[in-house]
Amino acid sequence: MLATIPITKISVSRMTPELRDSAPFGAVFSDHMLVADYANGKWGDPKIIPYGVQLLAAAPAVAHYGQGIFEGFKAFPRPNGGAVVFRPQANHARMARTCQRMAMPEVPASIFIDGTLALVALDRNWIPEKDGSALYIRPVLFATGETLGVRPSESFRFIIETCPSGPYFSGAVDLLAEETYVRAFPGGTGAAKCGGNYAGSMLASIEAQKKGFHNVLWLDGIERKYVEEAGLMNVAFVIGGTVVTPPLGGTILPGITRDSVLTLLRDMKIPVEERRISIDEVFDAHARGTLQGAAGIGTAAVIAPLGRLRHRDREITVPALSPDSPFAKVGAELEAIRSGKIADRHNWLMAL
Ligand SMILES: Cc1ncc(COP(=O)(O)O)c(C=O)c1O
Repeated sequence: MLATIPITKISVSRMTPELRDSAPFGAVFSDHMLVADYANGKWGDPKIIPYGVQLLAAAPAVAHYGQGIFEGFKAFPRPNGGAVVFRPQANHARMARTCQRMAMPEVPASIFIDGTLALVALDRNWIPEKDGSALYIRPVLFATGETLGVRPSESFRFIIETCPSGPYFSGAVDLLAEETYVRAFPGGTGAAKCGGNYAGSMLASIEAQKKGFHNVLWLDGIERKYVEEAGLMNVAFVIGGTVVTPPLGGTILPGITRDSVLTLLRDMKIPVEERRISIDEVFDAHARGTLQGAAGIGTAAVIAPLGRLRHRDREITVPALSPDSPFAKVGAELEAIRSGKIADRHNWLMAL
């Protein structure tokens, strides 16, 4: 049974179809948010209130030592005012692992999952109706303790906010294989969804953009040789009919979309290999004509085809995805599951 969460409704909704349907990703927040505080070793009761300004101490520990983490997933519209949330339990579990890594208290399911469902139900009218649109759900947990002592904070705030998110139309993603900066290294926080990973990667993205690429193709932090992630997405290649993707080993964010894609590929009996893949292997496969496609994989774009890849003074253009490519097939299957056209055989959807 879902926990009952007290709701204070906004007096007049800010929602207009124009605002909802044309807002750039992450720029407009829907009417309400969930807030819960952790103090004295326990979670307080969550509440849903109008989205708005929050009071914070001038020295919240998150601003100094970076105990700030987040999640991201989506709710999709269903007819007659319904909606489904895609794999919220997987995001809850990932946030628990991030909490552990960052010495932060885990958020109970009665707040994370029940709060998500209550919030989506309340702001259901913010889900754009166009095909491929969704309500993006962003849980965030940060340290609010007022101390300059370098130790885990004793108080935290958890917020869930949501944003209307339109269909992701974009061409191929061009990536520059990065050798100066690294995103992660063994023993670090690469597998955690903590803000610091993103802060540390922005300069590399800006520099890649100045050189005419959309983002960075991250290489491993030791040898700068093995492919790890595609900007803010996981990455996979089709080589000779097999889908090859870097293994989860602590330096890569364990994407929920990556897991869903691999599960569906295996269902379809398409060969999948989770193994290290060097940037040289990708370029060699292209030279031999066996590189049949490459994609970034994540919540925002789901499966985004890669275009130009550059490494030092070499550059290739990845072949476009044909309709019978494993990525196209799995993308269509995922979409059919999310929209209810085929059975949700893995129990990924949670209805309101
Ligand atoms: C660094 C990074 N890798 C991978 C992903 C893909 O993860 P998911 O499929 O859970 O969105 C994301 C996006 O959340 C990300 O920020």
